Amino acid sequence: MSLRTITQIGNTVRADSAPPTITNVLKLDSKAELDALAKRLLAPAASIPPKYFYDEIGSTLYNAIVLTREYYPTRTEAAIFERFRRQIAAVIGEGKQFVDLGSGDSVKAEKWFASLKPSRYVAVDISETAVADALARLSGLANAPDLCGLITDFSRVLDVTPVAEKKPSVFFYPGSSIGNFMPDEASWFLRQIRAHCATSDCGLLIGVDAKKDKARLDAAYDDALGVTAAFNLNTLNHVNGLLGTDFDVHDWKHRGFYNEAFGRIEMHLEARRDVIVRIRGEARSFYRGERIHTENSYKYAPDQFRALLTEAGFSDVHLWQDEGGDFNVFYAR
Ligand code: AVJ
Repeated sequence: MSLRTITQIGNTVRADSAPPTITNVLKLDSKAELDALAKRLLAPAASIPPKYFYDEIGSTLYNAIVLTREYYPTRTEAAIFERFRRQIAAVIGEGKQFVDLGSGDSVKAEKWFASLKPSRYVAVDISETAVADALARLSGLANAPDLCGLITDFSRVLDVTPVAEKKPSVFFYPGSSIGNFMPDEASWFLRQIRAHCATSDCGLLIGVDAKKDKARLDAAYDDALGVTAAFNLNTLNHVNGLLGTDFDVHDWKHRGFYNEAFGRIEMHLEARRDVIVRIRGEARSFYRGERIHTENSYKYAPDQFRALLTEAGFSDVHLWQDEGGDFNVFYAR
């Protein structure tokens, strides 16, 4: 442990370079965004998009979810990356621009720097503070690539042209985040990446959770410690802060389960009793048992996802998986 700390101090020597440029294309006026959120809460089948999980406490709770016994995807993906790092890097090739989609704290990306030797690192995320912190940390590394950040909501549209250079690139989309898209949206998202690739030698390194036994999936999204429950319920506090609504967490219960027919995890918040919530001056009544849909997380069989990649225009698809076949890592170009 102390050795690691000393190494990090020893590497903090790049006082000469200017701080990395961060370009923010999120609309400064988020009024339309909040209007859309209020509309979804007032709709007959209420829902909240999963991006509202991730305020400061929500992001911290997510970091705790990945440590729970039941939540296998993150540690399984990490084990695949560790085990096949050299092989994967050999397929991708060195010196590319590394575009990290949903970069967060950039810890997953940083692990690839030694083997991929990227010339440029583009951190793309919805959270400016996360990107600023991550790039500040990375700029202290010896041999850091050129660093830049893009703040955008790519669940709406993916456009990295404000910051990404037209040169050979690897797009990195780990963690099975692709699962939050409906399959047709996922296909559209992959096509957008493919479109960016059309002009130069590019590829996509992506982690995708596999379909599996319902009991294991149910447990992964409803852990015994209640971390996922807290993560889901916290959304109500976040929304209260954004919209001035008066949701009371005590009135709601976490639901997280695998819907086998749809091949997806569903998360909902279920009213424990009849409740009335004030939403922008309107009284929205929820009956006991009524649910607010907060997340879908689609699971893909390897061939199913391969087909999605092919449909999106990728022709050369490589696959790595753990021994149990719990999780899949694809590199497609
Ligand atoms: C970040 C979308 C990959 O779907 O597994 C974890 C989010 N939700 N536990 C997932 C999540 C509940 C996670 N992704």
